[in-house]
Amino acid sequence: MLSGKKILLGVTGGIAAYKATYLVRLLVKAGADVRVILTPAARDFVTPLTLATLSKNPVLWNFFEKDDPEGKWHNHVELGLWADLFIVAPATSNTLASMATAKADNLLLATYLSAKCPVFLAPAMDLDMYQHPANQKNLDYLQSIGNHIIPAESGELASGLEGKGRMAEPDTIFDFIENTLRQQQKLAGKKVLINAGPTYESLDPVRFLGNRSSGKTGIALAEAAHQMGAEVTLVLGPTHLQPKEKNIKLIRVESTAEMLNACEAHFDNCHLAILSAAVSDYRPEHQAQQKIKKKGEKLLLRLVQNPDILKALGQKKKKQLLVGFALETENALENGKAKLHNKNCDLIVLNSPDNKERGFGHDTNEVHLLSHQKEPLHLELKSKTALAHEILDYITATFSI
Ligand code: CTP
Repeated sequence: MLSGKKILLGVTGGIAAYKATYLVRLLVKAGADVRVILTPAARDFVTPLTLATLSKNPVLWNFFEKDDPEGKWHNHVELGLWADLFIVAPATSNTLASMATAKADNLLLATYLSAKCPVFLAPAMDLDMYQHPANQKNLDYLQSIGNHIIPAESGELASGLEGKGRMAEPDTIFDFIENTLRQQQKLAGKKVLINAGPTYESLDPVRFLGNRSSGKTGIALAEAAHQMGAEVTLVLGPTHLQPKEKNIKLIRVESTAEMLNACEAHFDNCHLAILSAAVSDYRPEHQAQQKIKKKGEKLLLRLVQNPDILKALGQKKKKQLLVGFALETENALENGKAKLHNKNCDLIVLNSPDNKERGFGHDTNEVHLLSHQKEPLHLELKSKTALAHEILDYITATFSI
């Protein structure tokens, strides 16, 4: 699982830092490209030379090289984006507290805040420190925002006390990471089609009918599906956003007709299609070739109905799993269920009406999942990224794709 992976190993200042040397060996032996970042305190416990020799890469601990006449700068953003995985072992109380409060006063912390990849934290501290409610709160919080916590083990501690707090052994850390990644690859080998964003319907060469969708939810779904091993095609309407992941096949479209064509072209071969786009239901009957001039006090526009992309795919559906979205302002569950049947979907993600924290343009949302198999499931308000992962987890747990 780890062969060819680019791994950042952060080492912080605790006695368990010596075990990081063995972890580097395991990762390198598995074929990973390992770069080590130390906190300043970690250098009191383990030498950069040992870790550089084992990792076959220079070890970093400063934002810049003080003795280098050119003042070489270690770009934490680049490092964070370089990594496929970020492991912090050992993770001390101090570092965990800084991570939980977005402090960035050393290279390791700044890189953590810039990283987009899965993060694994292996806490290590003395018995009472580990049990302290403040540390437990930080660990719970760090887990709730998507970090993987590798549980500390029980045993003899450096202080002479017996109990929980020892960093997991390097073999255990290695197995934990491999198992987590294996479980996350639930969409490996699967082709996933997603549409997202608004559609624009031209009125004339400079004007259009559109809506305020940002495409954030669909983009988050595309990134989450990619992280779960899927080959993802994202058909994206006009929005300034786009996925950060370069391996997602991105097809840019503008109108509903273009979105329909792109979706139909990729639907036959896909295993799962998720239609999250806010498609314009109507378009102008005529598209003016020249800019429409101001005439009388009123301007009447005649609109004609657009094709329903979800319904069209529902009619073509063979073995594909089809997921639609719905936005309802009244009788939400009832109307959402009606869409599940009428559009021949397997699942409807029912959006809550727009308010300050959820829906169009916001980073958070709250939804209900409506399927034929199960009672409606409410997913509470959370980030669109976390929501995307929960929706895909629900799909892989409920259906065979
Ligand atoms: N949808 C679509 N093509 C359309 C309209 C909607 O593919 N022309 C899809 C959306 O992407 C979504 C689902 O249908 O997955 C439901 O969209 P929604 O706007 O909630 O409902 P509508 O079908 O447009 O019906 P209404 O506006 O009457 O609620």
